[in-house]
Amino acid sequence: MFPVITVDGPAAAGKGTLVRRLAQQFNLAALDTGALYRATAARLLDCGGDPSDPVLPRDSARSLTTDDLTRPDLRTETVSQVASVLATRPDVRAALLDFQRGFVRQKPADKAGVILDGRDTGTVICPEAPIKFFVTARDTVRAKRRYKELLARKEPAIYAHVLEDLQARDRRDSSRTSAPLKAADDAVILDSSDLDSEAVFARAVQIVCDRTGWTGSHPANGRPSRGLVSH
Ligand code: DC
Repeated sequence: MFPVITVDGPAAAGKGTLVRRLAQQFNLAALDTGALYRATAARLLDCGGDPSDPVLPRDSARSLTTDDLTRPDLRTETVSQVASVLATRPDVRAALLDFQRGFVRQKPADKAGVILDGRDTGTVICPEAPIKFFVTARDTVRAKRRYKELLARKEPAIYAHVLEDLQARDRRDSSRTSAPLKAADDAVILDSSDLDSEAVFARAVQIVCDRTGWTGSHPANGRPSRGLVSH
């Protein structure tokens, strides 16, 4: 019996930072579900596979190991684009569903709860999660953030192309028929267009505390003092 928190939203909205900080603050096991789609894409590219092949993408998803999730090439543009295409395929999504639900079921004993981030974690993976966030921001704000990240990593980047790629990915993520990107009805919307990451974090911490009864930091013994429980 422990709380599950889901954090969904479009690319470069600040989900990753928020999830890392909440995980640290409240001692939660975190899963970046986007890494599963990226790792599937990277495995497929390794064997020269085509994203439209009838079986190879699903096989790549089924054979994922946790080591694949820490590959250094997961954030390249090629992997990002192929991951976004694979994410439209119901067979790939189904193959990754068990991995994600298994992560929630197998919370390590020393963690106080679980936090997932992605596109459908509150709508499809864990619709029963008691705390759901949907983190978003205007596309131009997100593109500027992504552009700055690329420059900081000394990768070549042109702002107009970054914006176009992001819009293309948004369109694919939101318009696919299988688990499209959308906020769960009971999600708290955090719009970071005009807020810095500190303000978004503070708001999320307040909501987690209100709903679980936890105080501002994680319970030292790894167990919530009281709270909403889903598993
Ligand atoms: O969050 P990200 O950019 O690392 O995600 C990579 C791709 O995977 C992105 O195109 C959206 C997709 N994705 C998804 O469809 N469902 C998820 N739960 C997580 C990611």
